[in-house]
Amino acid sequence: MTHELAPAVGLPAPTAAEGQSLASSSSEGRDWWRDAVIYQVYVRSFADSDGDGIGDLRGATERLPHLAELGVDAVWLTPFYASPQADGGYDVADYRAVDPLFGDLADADDLVRTAHELGLRVIVDVVPNHTSDQHPWFLAALADPDPEGARRRYHFRPGKGAQGELPPNDWESVFGGPAWTRTPDGAWYLHLFAPEQPDLNWDDQEVHEEFDSVLRFWLDLGVDGFRIDVAHGMVKAAGMPDIGHGEQASLIGSQTLPFFDQDGVHEIHRGWRRLLDSYPGERIGVAEAWAPSAERLALYVRPDELHQAFNFQFLRCPWEPAAMRSVIDESLAATASVGAPTTWVLSNHDVVRHPTRYGGGAQGLRRARAAALLMLALPGSTYIYQGEELGLPEVTDLPSEVRQDPAFFRAAGQDGFRDGCRVPIPWTAKGPSYGFGEGGSWLPQPAEWGALSVAAQTGDPLSTLELYRSALALRRQLPGGPMRWLPGPDGLLVLARNGLVCTLNTTASTVELPTPGRLLISSDAMDQPGDTARIPADSCAWWAI
Ligand code: NOJ
Repeated sequence: MTHELAPAVGLPAPTAAEGQSLASSSSEGRDWWRDAVIYQVYVRSFADSDGDGIGDLRGATERLPHLAELGVDAVWLTPFYASPQADGGYDVADYRAVDPLFGDLADADDLVRTAHELGLRVIVDVVPNHTSDQHPWFLAALADPDPEGARRRYHFRPGKGAQGELPPNDWESVFGGPAWTRTPDGAWYLHLFAPEQPDLNWDDQEVHEEFDSVLRFWLDLGVDGFRIDVAHGMVKAAGMPDIGHGEQASLIGSQTLPFFDQDGVHEIHRGWRRLLDSYPGERIGVAEAWAPSAERLALYVRPDELHQAFNFQFLRCPWEPAAMRSVIDESLAATASVGAPTTWVLSNHDVVRHPTRYGGGAQGLRRARAAALLMLALPGSTYIYQGEELGLPEVTDLPSEVRQDPAFFRAAGQDGFRDGCRVPIPWTAKGPSYGFGEGGSWLPQPAEWGALSVAAQTGDPLSTLELYRSALALRRQLPGGPMRWLPGPDGLLVLARNGLVCTLNTTASTVELPTPGRLLISSDAMDQPGDTARIPADSCAWWAI
């Protein structure tokens, strides 16, 4: 049966919630970030220039042309700073130095300059919630038990119990286990993540001044912005009250907790916005913030705060049309209420890759390709996680002895085990580590990844890589504008934007419709008998009207 589809022309005027332009027409000028497509480079798994099995900055620089050709506007680099690597570099010992694993400052400078020459902006990570336990400040704090001395920059507390043998409160680490570790002199310090990541005390003025200076250091080097790690965590509830129950990590992103999303963090972001705005060229801040609702998340992107905040509600949304529609509506409404774009994301280095989340195998890949077209059709900015453009699945059979994620060793925390999404990406069909480098790779790559490599997919019109390339090229040409839903049969999401209709079939069967327009791109082969279109199961298409 052919379902009726309401005409997409003659739509009523857009509402405020409906957003921003589709095309990256603004990527050259003001507000470039509002519709930018930003590619996440997980540095240790992207490209290895020196054959030590670990990706590095020179490797990333050499591969930047791939990203320019893919058609993204910017790259975000995960931490490459001096670090003992207890948590993949999110344990920083020197915020102004490049870890020798990844290169040196000249390599960072070269990467930024090369990216700019290719028309790509560069965003780097900043990790302000905690330092490494090897940071000079923490080493000084361990050496001096005076709570008003070096310890004031962290959260040191006496323990409970007759001998102070119990942690100061019942908070749990996001990676599992207690959030407190006792020092040899008997005091306890707070670490919301691994014990090697002591939390900083943002009531201390010196902490503020240090991070202002760190931001300036990288802005002076030419970076275009920062992805702010744990942007919701720097301020803890006064008195650090007990929570009263366990399993706390499972509540992150859905409930209010005394260590996350406290109102006080916004003052810090306001200060950073002023600092960013004092530089030319619209340098941006993007919050990695886990907030209990779209409304709470939107507070991070008020006009005087950060520019973007990852939409993890979208990332977490199951393959279910009503849920997808409502998360899109809620996100657009919440961000529009503060005049910010929504920032869509499907995968990153902390979560199971989305083809696997969507069911794995052929079905997971079909859905992932469809979800990509949906995401790229929505108003706002989009993040792409390296390898997503190749359709890479999660690697689910890594042996324990190669794993490095601290969450694996402390039991699954907030994000579960995260090595399976961090396996180095394949560039060539053959060769050592499939072109990742001249040596091996720090996590073993599955044998079938040669066939998923950039080289193997390039030029194949049915490949996921060419789907992303074509979609990004189209996205640049389309006029964008607000979006609205059109009615459609059950299981089909149909949205219209200026000149575009996007049809997503979330069901397991083909749905036949009157042809919505001229087919621009589709994630699966599309039959168009007569004036109808047969939209395959788990597929998405864009139509010009
Ligand atoms: C979020 C980062 O994305 C994750 O990889 C890290 O483990 C935590 N923050 C702690 O820094």
